[in-house]
Amino acid sequence: MATVVLGIESSCDDTAAAILVDGRLASSVVSSQAVHEQYGGVVPELASRDHQRLIVPIVDAALKKAQVAITDVDAVAVTYGPGLAGSLLVGLSFAKALAAARNVPLLGVNHLEGHIYSVFLEETQPPIPHVNLTVSGGHTQLIVVDKGFTHNILGKTRDDAAGEAFDKVAKLMGLGFPGGPHIDRLASEGNPEFVRFPRSRPDKFSFSFSGIKTSMLYHLADQDDRENHLREHLNDLCASFQRAVVDVLAGAVTDAVAETGIPHVTITGGVSANRELSERVRADGRRLGFDVYIPRPAFCTDNAAMIAKAGEMKWHAGFESPLSLTVIPNLVL
Ligand code: KG4
Ligand code: ZN
Repeated sequence: MATVVLGIESSCDDTAAAILVDGRLASSVVSSQAVHEQYGGVVPELASRDHQRLIVPIVDAALKKAQVAITDVDAVAVTYGPGLAGSLLVGLSFAKALAAARNVPLLGVNHLEGHIYSVFLEETQPPIPHVNLTVSGGHTQLIVVDKGFTHNILGKTRDDAAGEAFDKVAKLMGLGFPGGPHIDRLASEGNPEFVRFPRSRPDKFSFSFSGIKTSMLYHLADQDDRENHLREHLNDLCASFQRAVVDVLAGAVTDAVAETGIPHVTITGGVSANRELSERVRADGRRLGFDVYIPRPAFCTDNAAMIAKAGEMKWHAGFESPLSLTVIPNLVL
């Protein structure tokens, strides 16, 4: 009999479900809530309402696509933090009800573990230990991933996350939300040396991205005709901003490999979908002799396949959660 794991993710503004059959991905369905675009950011109350509306149809769609019945599910993996309380509650309540009704294990997953282990959804997998950079809308951290799901944190951001910087700078430039994909696309046509934005690493492995956002704010405020400047140089501004962020992140990765002596790197989280970042780190890896693993873009941004995979890996290591599991909005690694 095949082993079926259902993964559920609802920590922010994506309602997602995925099915693994014997460890292989059979379906992954993500509904990104469009309702937040008009506000330029995620509105918590609207997010949780949308999760309630979407959770049943999304799980149904994942089951159908994988051609398995709900009665075939052998374990339910679900994000229980970090994230928005009202959003997390929808996914966790659904998962607990299903686990209780079917008498199958509940596997609580830290959203960050989901990102970290998303690389194991791919054919070519990194060895453990490896260096991981997780860069998303909510987090920026550099860690060593070791056996037994232990994570040694080398450094984090002191203020904004890298993805948050992309989103805030995009908003300043009048681009849509989330800003990362817009900047990625426009930057490819621009001059990365147009403006020299600050590269800030308060110490070797910590990051700070609030200064670069302020720099963009001042740069735009300094223009006589801001709108015209944006029209003429939007690509250049995107390229200059992105170059500064990539310099900082790639520099920290190279330093982490040198410091730890571990020549294996994974990059995960929404910002790992950024083309310049992946090209730069891969080029550094070829030059300096470390290998680089980045999941395909659909597994970089929030999805439930990564939650199913992390949950399954922990389940195989003997881990299970009690049905009394509650959401932890500020859960850390
Ligand atoms: O992992 P994720 O989907 O959600 C969180 O856990 O936060 O990451 C979302 C973040 C957003 O800030 C978005 O702008 C950024 O990832 N992002 C990108 C790209 N695609 C998504 N940033 C830069 N380049 C991209 N191609
Ligand atoms: Zn995420």
